[in-house]
Amino acid sequence: MPTLKVNGRKVTVAEDVYLLEACRAAGVEVPTLCNFDGLEPWGGCRLCVVDMSLAKWDDDWFKMVTACNHPVEEGMTVITDSERVLATRRVVLDLLLARCPETPLIQRLAREHGIEETSYELNPEPTDCILCGLCTRVCDHIGVSAIASTDRGWGREIAPPFNEPPPDCIGCLACAEICPTDHIKFTTSNSCRTIWGREFEMLRDPKTGEAVITKAQAEHFAARSGVPMTYFETSDRSKRLEVAKTVERLRVVKS
Ligand code: SF4
Ligand code: FES
Repeated sequence: MPTLKVNGRKVTVAEDVYLLEACRAAGVEVPTLCNFDGLEPWGGCRLCVVDMSLAKWDDDWFKMVTACNHPVEEGMTVITDSERVLATRRVVLDLLLARCPETPLIQRLAREHGIEETSYELNPEPTDCILCGLCTRVCDHIGVSAIASTDRGWGREIAPPFNEPPPDCIGCLACAEICPTDHIKFTTSNSCRTIWGREFEMLRDPKTGEAVITKAQAEHFAARSGVPMTYFETSDRSKRLEVAKTVERLRVVKS
């Protein structure tokens, strides 16, 4: 298990983790925007940059890397708050503030890094999409790939193919739930869910009547896992009620 130093604190971590995890284990916070536990790191936002040096390098030789996807090595030295690291993060946030001037998450992070106003030209059409790629990656991960990033510059955005309701979407909401800025809009009622311009039929729990999951999502998961559809349309409340009934029966048998 490699031992490294983060801002002077020694920490030992598992072999196959990235610097971000080592920083967290050392109690050092590193800001991130495109990282999510459970998804492969992408290194897209560049906010998590840190300085690192290998044991075999000269003492004053450091390289700037993204902590979320740089593997740990024995004897590494990591510095998360050097002047050039903080300056790089400021540039990232300054650019993001120009693209997303009304987005509370970016405003807060920018403020924390000493930026009140962007020094770049403001996006004429402000958006909340910070292009972190979490939505497209989680969609790929689920095995659907219904959305992707399109265009360039200011106009770059996340959209389904040809901006049409995506035929592959299953209405699972993974993209909307992972989005750190709540940019992806949806509605869910007892019978119907809408997202990306598509409408999905909701399946209801047969006992409680709650809308649980879209039919398309249940079919997708059932086909991938071999687990029967009925499992997916049972609500958490229904499962808890079943457990409660079982406990009650056990109590009766015992007394
Ligand atoms: S829509 Fe949300 S999750 Fe997707 S890239 Fe934009 S900010 Fe990230
Ligand atoms: S969190 Fe590491 S590059 Fe985005």
